[in-house]
Amino acid sequence: MSTAFDAGNGKITVPDIASRKSSTPNSRASSSGNSQSNSEKRKIVCLTAYDYPTARFVDEAGVDIVLVGDSLGMVALGYENTLPLTMEEMLHHTRAVRRGVRKAMLVADMPYGSFHGDKREAVRNAVRFVKEAGAEGVKIEGGERRMELIAQLVEAEIPVMGHIGLTPQSMHAFGGFRVQGKSVEAAEQLLRDARAVEAAGAFSVVVESVPRELAARITSELRIPTIGIGAGPECDGQILVLHDMIGLSVGHTPKFARRYANVGEAIRNAVGAYADDVHEGRFPSDEESYHLSSEVRERLLAVRRS
Ligand code: KIV
Repeated sequence: MSTAFDAGNGKITVPDIASRKSSTPNSRASSSGNSQSNSEKRKIVCLTAYDYPTARFVDEAGVDIVLVGDSLGMVALGYENTLPLTMEEMLHHTRAVRRGVRKAMLVADMPYGSFHGDKREAVRNAVRFVKEAGAEGVKIEGGERRMELIAQLVEAEIPVMGHIGLTPQSMHAFGGFRVQGKSVEAAEQLLRDARAVEAAGAFSVVVESVPRELAARITSELRIPTIGIGAGPECDGQILVLHDMIGLSVGHTPKFARRYANVGEAIRNAVGAYADDVHEGRFPSDEESYHLSSEVRERLLAVRRS
C-alpha cells in the first residue's frame, strides 16, 4: 500500500487549498484587518498527471493539486471518451502518480460507473483510492444529484472535489462536449449545483466549460475555492489536462487549453533523428559502445584462431 507523505515541509493539504479562497462578498464585509486580501491570495494551480515521471515533473514544478483525471482514458489510453475507464485502471495509474508526488495534494477521479449505483459501493470505491493508491481526496462529477454521496464520503473522512458544468461522463445526456450554463435556466441550475456541492461538504469544485460571467458569479457566491477549466480567469484556481498544455494529446483540444510546449513534435523529431542515425550507421558511436580490455580482446582473438 502506498501512502501520502506527511504534512509539513511545504506539503499542500486540504486546509491549505481552502485558505486560498478569494474572499466572498459576505466574508469581505465581516473580515478583520489581518486577513489576506484577494490580491494576496495566490491562485490554486492544478494539473493532471497519469504516470510516475510526469507526476514528478509536475510536482517539482510546484503545482498545488495533481489530479489523476479520468481524462487518462482519452489522452493516455486511447479510449474515445472517458466512459470505458475502469476502477482498476484508475487505481493502477493513481499508484504510479502517488510514487512521483511529494508536495502537491493528490486527488483521484472516480471513473464512470464507480459511484452511480449503490452508495455503499461508491464509498468503498472511494476508500480504495485512499487506502490502496494513496490519494488524498477524490473528485466526483455532478452537482445537486451528488449531494448525498458527497456528504457520505466526507463522513468517511474522504475530501471531495466537486465537478460541475461540462462533466464529460454526462456526454450522452448533454449530446456531446458543449459549453454549459448558457441560458438563464441552465445558469440557475449550475448555481444550484455549485451551492449543493458546497453544502454537501466538498472542499473545492471544478467548474468546466461555462461562460466566464457565470463562473465569476459562482466563485463570488461560494466559500469553497472554484477551480476553472474553460471557465474564465475569475475562478480561485485553474486546471488543465497536462497532455493538452504540453502538446502531447492526439486530436482536438478545446480553445481554453493553452499550449505551453510541443512535446508531441519533440518526440516525432527525436524518433526521426534516431531512425536516420540507425539507418545511416551513425548510432551507436564508438563512445556509446562498451569495450573489452586489451587483454581479453587478445585472448578472444587467440581462441578464435585456434
Ligand atoms: O479528467 C480530468 O482530467 C478532469 C479535469 C480536466 C478537471 O476532470
